Amino acid sequence: MGYFIGIDSSTTATKALLLAETGDVIGVAASTYDYETPRPLWSEQQPELWWTATAASIRQLLANTGITPNAIKAIGLTGQMHGLVLLDKNGSVLRPAILWNDQRTGAECDEMRHLIGKQQLIAITGNDALTGFTAPKILWVKNNEPEIYARIAHILLPKDYVRYQLTGEFATDKADAAGMQLFDVRQRDWSGEVVGKLGIDPAWLPPTFEGTAVTGYVTAAAAEAVGLLAGTPVMAGGGDQAANAVGVGAVGDGVVALSLGTSGVVFASSDVPIVEPDGRLHAFCHAVPGKWHLMGVMLSAAGSLRWYRDALAPGVDFDDLLAPAAAVPPGSEGLLFLPYLTGERTPHPDPLARGSFVGLTVRHTQPHLTRAVLEGVAFGLRDSLELMRGAGLADVSQIRASGGGLRSPLWRQILADALQTEIVTVNSSEGAAYGAAVLALVGAGVYTSVPAACADLVRVTGRTSPGKDAAAYGQSYAVYRRLYPALQTIFADLALL
Ligand code: XUL
Repeated sequence: MGYFIGIDSSTTATKALLLAETGDVIGVAASTYDYETPRPLWSEQQPELWWTATAASIRQLLANTGITPNAIKAIGLTGQMHGLVLLDKNGSVLRPAILWNDQRTGAECDEMRHLIGKQQLIAITGNDALTGFTAPKILWVKNNEPEIYARIAHILLPKDYVRYQLTGEFATDKADAAGMQLFDVRQRDWSGEVVGKLGIDPAWLPPTFEGTAVTGYVTAAAAEAVGLLAGTPVMAGGGDQAANAVGVGAVGDGVVALSLGTSGVVFASSDVPIVEPDGRLHAFCHAVPGKWHLMGVMLSAAGSLRWYRDALAPGVDFDDLLAPAAAVPPGSEGLLFLPYLTGERTPHPDPLARGSFVGLTVRHTQPHLTRAVLEGVAFGLRDSLELMRGAGLADVSQIRASGGGLRSPLWRQILADALQTEIVTVNSSEGAAYGAAVLALVGAGVYTSVPAACADLVRVTGRTSPGKDAAAYGQSYAVYRRLYPALQTIFADLALL
């Protein structure tokens, strides 16, 4: 029997997952760490943390499961996207990695639009400039740390630093590479035009591979560190969102992965490259070879419910908080909630946007407020879906949902009604690490393709269909959509107080 390891280096932990050839998850081990915010808007992490945690997690995984290193057939990598790792010519780290949630690069985003032209940037990379992406971070280092910029020899994404330590190779996958905003998403390769106009040396960028391709083999030194055999192949894998989509089986045209964690992500797989004309959705390559995806990211999804509970019902169990909200009519009797508690990315890329309850009357009770929060998050997710439909995504046939928020049957029903689409839950609950292991499994030849593997391994465990309330949500959503444009300048003024 062969086994496969998926490694997910996220912002808070590195997780190693052991997958059997049969598709069963045999074990999971994780090592946690912190990230730093040395200045307002900054978010950084030392790359060494990911490598130390990778070694600890793999060793723990092997010890827990009793599987011997010679049974491990391949490794797949995933992790936090958009981070900037800079190495010198000796492969040494030049400065802490600048992470996906760092917001310091507003001026560099304007510089990118100026150098390339906003429409051209969207046409090539699929996206408007965004503070979180990698490209403006490179310009920031050029503008603010010229002595470091002068020593750059290699640019990597976070999970690819782990790959470099494991294999000695500089390489990345096409899904994560697309999130750097230096990529021609249609051509599935670096854009000479964008790289050139930003003054970046193309030799700094690693070669890119499809998610199932072998990018190198575990070196003798790495084998010693992690407890695996030298020569174990390491597949390309994918950024965390693409790998998560593989993990829930969102690998076919029009199948959507919805993840309802602290943030909320709507991820639609597509057989053809689609770009939203105003760049309001992320348009990247998928980790599935030859496929693409569109993605909307809401920054406070289940995070909104957690804030609401902690601020207004501290200590109350989520089940107890949500139960009375089931008796409130859909639309919460004219009460709306805007979920922009930490600013927003999709559909309004606005760090100054704020959360709001709009429409309070004396009739409203706490269960109304609770329900309004659940509905507001569902409407925010619908915004992404509407943008996808407007951009020409094939009919959305099914939404495969995962994340803590999905445990609530009430929230599942509200989502199905507000999104007017069937919501299904699946058996695979280990997210991106599972997807990375599946990519390794396919790369090793156990299945002929990622969709074939997912059809076999990922099973539907529950279905929630849109019901009688869908029409009422249509009316509330129409009002919800008018709130942000009406409040945008007020949010900006509030930020100055
Ligand atoms: C995706 C994104 C996050 C990070 C964090 O665009 O920014 O999912 O990858 O893990």
